Amino acid sequence: MVVGTGYVGLTTGACLSSLSHLVTCVDVDEAKVARLSAGRVDILEPGLSELVARGLTSGRLTFTTDARRAVADAEGVFLCVPTPMGAGGAADLRAVEAVTAQIGDVLPPGCALITKSTVPVGTARRIADLIGRHDVPVVSNPEFLREGTAVSDFLGPDRIVVGSDDEQAAHWVADLYAGLSAPAVISDAASAELVKYAANCFLAMKLSYVNAIAELCERLGADITSVTEGMGHDRRIGRSFLKPGPGWGGSCLPKDTHALMRIAESVRYDFGMLGAAIDENIAQRDRIVAKIAGAVGGTLAGARIGVLGLAFKAGTNDLRDSPALSVSSVLSALGADLTAYDPAVGGEIPGMTVVDDPYQVAKGADAIVVLTEWAEFQRLDWTYVSELMHGDAVVDTRNLLEPRVVLDAGLSWQGVGRTLHRSPKFALPG
Ligand code: UDX
Repeated sequence: MVVGTGYVGLTTGACLSSLSHLVTCVDVDEAKVARLSAGRVDILEPGLSELVARGLTSGRLTFTTDARRAVADAEGVFLCVPTPMGAGGAADLRAVEAVTAQIGDVLPPGCALITKSTVPVGTARRIADLIGRHDVPVVSNPEFLREGTAVSDFLGPDRIVVGSDDEQAAHWVADLYAGLSAPAVISDAASAELVKYAANCFLAMKLSYVNAIAELCERLGADITSVTEGMGHDRRIGRSFLKPGPGWGGSCLPKDTHALMRIAESVRYDFGMLGAAIDENIAQRDRIVAKIAGAVGGTLAGARIGVLGLAFKAGTNDLRDSPALSVSSVLSALGADLTAYDPAVGGEIPGMTVVDDPYQVAKGADAIVVLTEWAEFQRLDWTYVSELMHGDAVVDTRNLLEPRVVLDAGLSWQGVGRTLHRSPKFALPG
């Protein structure tokens, strides 16, 4: 049984059913359960609708709101409910505790209670205390799914991490993934819980470091793409997660970095290095805002800015902790007039006009700002964009566009960590 049908829960349920397990997904939202039972998936996640459809047809995947009834046949229960940032930055465990309280007394003997939600270190023990049953092992099995590639991440993981103070239960959970070829790291519960934070916070620190190096590149006249290419060939560093941008965001990195700060505090450890990465992320946003202000002549009040991209990264419609929104809200607070387009986002967003055509953001704009790395922005007719604009500034916070194309359209181009006029690759036209 899988509790919660968000992108983690639904991916877990659908993928486990594709590995031939019988899965019941539970959610409190009746309308959502009805939609999912009819094969309708609201989340933009490649491959997920197909897996849900296949699971429904094969009978291996079902949806219900009745957790207490569904649990009667379960050998394992995955908790995939939200653990948002709560008071003071710590993870809010109310949803985890509510489910535990709801099903704790009807869990069949031996049924493993498995946390997939990112929970503070020590939660497995706390849940075990809450349930107060010796015949129900509690297991931590953190997920490392990225939005937009959740299905392929689940079915082709780098590793499976399973931790429990009941070793047999940990092995049973690891065996659920036997169909996948990935190393299994089996540990105690606290270590497995910490792996998730340690990994996500490392990634956040890596990105803050890259954004800081990008800033140095600008000040020193170096080019971040060459610098990260040179760094990335070192296998100890690796080539991924080295792209500078408007700062890191999304549903995990911001909340997990704050949560690990609180976890460290709880054991009186001053995790200054992680705190610096969080501060650097805010500084990066502010530097991007300053760059945009510079591009429109120094003052944002009354400037017309066209925003390309609102999602926290390409391939998703998720706006949670999106750096694009964060940059936009500062621009708007400083008096800029924003028109925004994102291929996956529509509807009303305070402080801006959201349009459904990328060229509409260009109309009368003093500057265009690329905030999410959607490939479709590379394919825009930049000459037409230039004709529609009032000014000529393009600020590309993802280094997404080919500068030459933008320059040839008669526009100016500024990226992050790249100094156009100093790079021989980008000798100015004419
Ligand atoms: C992340 C972790 O990667 C995943 O393992 C965990 O389970 C959940 O959190 P996700 O939030 O989907 O996944 O996004 P990810 O692809 O990791 O990107 C996070 C942020 O970093 C985004 O804002 C993205 O734009 C930014 N990023 C990523 C960069 O700025 N540069 C990069 O090179 C990579």
